[in-house]
Amino acid sequence: MAFPNLFSPLQLGNMTLPNRIVHVPTDISSSHADGEVSERDIHHHGNIAKGGTGFVIVGATTPDMKTGRPTVTCLVADGDNYVPGLARLAESMHRYGAKTAVQLQHPGRQCAIPRYNTLGATDRVLKLPWSAGHEIVYENAEEKGKEIREASITEILELVDMFSEAAWRVKQAGFDAVELHAAHGYLLSEFMSPYLNMRTDRFGGSFENRMRFPLAVIDSIQKKCGRNYPVLVRYSFEEWCPGGRDMEEGLETARVLERAGVAALDLSQGMQESPGAGFDPMQYPQGWATYAAEATKKVVKIPVITSHSLRDPDYCEQILAEGKTDLVGLARQLLADPYWPVKAKYGKVKSIRKCISCLGGCWQESLMAKHEIACSINAACGQPAYDDMTRTEKPVRVAVVGGGPAGMEAARIASERGHLVTLFERSAELGGAMKYVCMVPGKEKMRWYLDWIRDQVLDLSVEVRLNQAPSVDELRGFDVVLNATGAASFVPPVHGDASRVVPFEETMACPKVACECHPGARKMRKLGQRVLLWGDSYAAADTAAWLAEIGREVTIVTENRDFAADCEVIHMYVARKRFAQTDAEVLSSRPYKHPVTVITSTTVAEIREGSVVLQDTAFNRTELDVDDIVTCHQRPELALYDELRAAGVQVLNVGDSVSPRNLYHAVKEGSAFGLAVDSNLLFNPNGAILDDLPIDVLAQLTREDGPSYTAKRMLELAGITTG
Ligand SMILES: Cc1cc2nc3c(=O)[nH]c(=O)nc-3n(C[C@H](O)[C@H](O)[C@H](O)COP(=O)(O)O)c2cc1C
Ligand code: SF4
Repeated sequence: MAFPNLFSPLQLGNMTLPNRIVHVPTDISSSHADGEVSERDIHHHGNIAKGGTGFVIVGATTPDMKTGRPTVTCLVADGDNYVPGLARLAESMHRYGAKTAVQLQHPGRQCAIPRYNTLGATDRVLKLPWSAGHEIVYENAEEKGKEIREASITEILELVDMFSEAAWRVKQAGFDAVELHAAHGYLLSEFMSPYLNMRTDRFGGSFENRMRFPLAVIDSIQKKCGRNYPVLVRYSFEEWCPGGRDMEEGLETARVLERAGVAALDLSQGMQESPGAGFDPMQYPQGWATYAAEATKKVVKIPVITSHSLRDPDYCEQILAEGKTDLVGLARQLLADPYWPVKAKYGKVKSIRKCISCLGGCWQESLMAKHEIACSINAACGQPAYDDMTRTEKPVRVAVVGGGPAGMEAARIASERGHLVTLFERSAELGGAMKYVCMVPGKEKMRWYLDWIRDQVLDLSVEVRLNQAPSVDELRGFDVVLNATGAASFVPPVHGDASRVVPFEETMACPKVACECHPGARKMRKLGQRVLLWGDSYAAADTAAWLAEIGREVTIVTENRDFAADCEVIHMYVARKRFAQTDAEVLSSRPYKHPVTVITSTTVAEIREGSVVLQDTAFNRTELDVDDIVTCHQRPELALYDELRAAGVQVLNVGDSVSPRNLYHAVKEGSAFGLAVDSNLLFNPNGAILDDLPIDVLAQLTREDGPSYTAKRMLELAGITTG
């Protein structure tokens, strides 16, 4: 059998896990506003169990909604009225053979609700712009901060009770185990942390005092639920900030928890003060955290779960075979592809859609934006509609123009549904904007998705026409056209010789003559030593990373008050550390030769020979010596779309050609087109596809009728023959 270790059972407490794959807790923030289990919760977790994960730990569930919800629609277990919903949730996974647990978490200082009178271990003003529970969304946004107050002894004792009552409800609902969230700076973790806990009473100071609260919770759960009921603890093995928990204390914590009767240790990393380690952005390599499980297994006998950036079944099999861990934990991977285990089982590893760690869908567009869960590369994540996707009985001819992520995903879904799809791409390569980003240091994982979606499209019966920009007349022959032509850079109005400004796309083109990824590789523009990047967003951030890595002195000039405010915040946190020539927590990459300077609220007023004149919002002017200027301003490519509309061709527009945004929007919009495209070929006055019409309305819109028809039928019924 492929992956014999991955698919071998394991005893954990009183339960036998069917395999070694664990869904480590992921708050999908998709329950009802009152914390009740929703159909989305059931669908999402049911799918993960269906995909073959052996042990599903449901994400952060609060034991006390009044004092702390980590996200606005997290699950709640602070009343018996939640038991029936939780029971349905457990059942949705049990039916597919999975063992189940709920993670109990009090978010403490990092709560999304309440917004005031926030409880923590210690009084402080908190400024953590990347925490889902924080009101400040982006790092350079106005820093209001959030006041946290120290929990009183009475409150701590009340919470001990609330945790154990919530655990009892979890058990009552039929879950096989309960996990305590003592990681990432949330309440229990804050008490345990030598860096965060500044109390001077018996709950602060020494290691023993800092462990008192979590140990009291464990003890109370054991009393309420029985010592046989498995309690797991998730904690941050290292905290990755000065004075935070180090490896030595990480190991001591494991020993103490084992002695307290904990059934298994779910090892995580980092805190909100070190967000890269907790929510690994793309720069973090697979297996960077395995060392913690390997070391912990040497000091305890209970099972150990390792997680963080695990993506390949081969790697997971290897660390299990080498005895470095007992279980492998996947969080985001199961958002990107809940069928990871079953694909591995059937040897279909290449068809696994590997999570690229972009955090764009699941963090930025979901938890940070206070929306329900989503994934940048899996439009079906959190969307039950995709489960009901059916093949059409009446295929239509679909032209997709543009081979970027939006176009390829539209082609993939429409073709899976049986439509006849032709995909036009004007260059020699599929990939669109992704072709550039796989050049950016630390963003190589984008290649995974590019390769996956391209392979899927090529494996389907999509007719791919490279090097072709179709004319309006050519496109008239199709039933429907999808414009996915993306965006392109432009130079804003400026004094001086604007032709000297280089498009950012040309600075990042693949330098290889025969690139195995992009057969039509182009030559990169050679730039001088001092480069000014004019613009913002991913285009500027990625170009800066690329140029800094190859030793250029980079200055970014943006008209915006905050740089990269629309980019994913944890990536930007790491990027800024790199810009400042420091490392980002765990990463030990070589610092840039020169720092990257960011000048905000400023524009380029004039281009001179060897310099530029910058002007800020107060009209102050300065001259800066530069060798090259690169524009990172982007706008939609709409020429074909406008022509098609003028010619009366039925066309829809998706992705960056609507407005330049991120991968999440491109894939979502492309996918939605593929799902909706229908043989009816009816469109509402807003230009949207009319799918799922009630049959009476469909008949009303499509059958022959009108006064003459009605009159004819009336005469027929009256038996009167007309000539
Ligand atoms: C959207 C999202 C929600 C998360 N929710 C939780 C949670 O509820 N509890 C928890 O312990 N960790 C949570 N995490 C952290 C993950 O469990 C995991 O440790 C982290 O994403 C790195 O592992 P991965 O690369 O497998 O995703 C969350 C992460 C993300 C991206
Ligand atoms: S949004 Fe990005 S990081 Fe999150 S699960 Fe999807 S691919 Fe992974």
